[in-house]
Amino acid sequence: MGARLGVNIDHVATLRQARGEDYPSLVRAAHEVLEAGAHQITIHLREDRRHIQDYDVAAIKLVCERYGRPLNLEMGANEEIFQVAVAAKPDWICLVPEKREERTTEGGLDLGEKAFGRIKDFCEKIKLEIPSTKISLFVEADSLTMEQCLKLQPDAVEIHTGEYARTFNRGEPITKYIELYNQARSLLGSGIGFHAGHGLDDKNIIPLLEFGKFHEYNVGHWLICESLFGGLSQTVDKYLALIQKYGEKA
Ligand code: PXP
Repeated sequence: MGARLGVNIDHVATLRQARGEDYPSLVRAAHEVLEAGAHQITIHLREDRRHIQDYDVAAIKLVCERYGRPLNLEMGANEEIFQVAVAAKPDWICLVPEKREERTTEGGLDLGEKAFGRIKDFCEKIKLEIPSTKISLFVEADSLTMEQCLKLQPDAVEIHTGEYARTFNRGEPITKYIELYNQARSLLGSGIGFHAGHGLDDKNIIPLLEFGKFHEYNVGHWLICESLFGGLSQTVDKYLALIQKYGEKA
């Protein structure tokens, strides 16, 4: 089986929340994404609820079930969000670091000595209360972090590709990242899934696809932004036709 695509639809909710209306519909977005053949829907329920809301999680889970595709819920190790996850039983939980003031998820999970115990306890809680949910850890690819991941034995790690993507976008060499990812893959062995996400677009994903060792890519911001240009002119066309049809009296 080839690499899977998880589409992160958070930013459809960003638009909805910006106006406090009930559109654009997250459910419709999830339908369209899965109808187009994407392998998974990814959403991030943030502590400040800036985009995805609690009620979206169960609604999107239903759409995923209808298509027989997984829902991947990104979340910080937070008790309140955990209760939403327990109710919705997503197929995957991707544990991410979360700071309220950040614009997006900056950097991978801290698995250093001090933070390790908390993440370990949280993983155990997930395994106990929602045993059907698989766990992935959103991390940087350095070898120390990989060794900590091995101790936790998650179902997958998701490598934070944000810095790689920015380096590629600036036209700078990316060899060191590919080497790092290769090393990370070898350290983890074959029993742990190897996912990638953050900052990916239609160009910077190519070297990663050529590298060929990631099983899954989670892509959001670029896909949602680009889809504006896939649909903006047709939408304006349709609207103009409407105005011409009904606006003859002016
Ligand atoms: N994977 C994880 C764990 C993330 O936190 C994000 C951003 O929410 C993404 C993937 C998607 O990143 P982007 O929106 O930059 O494509």
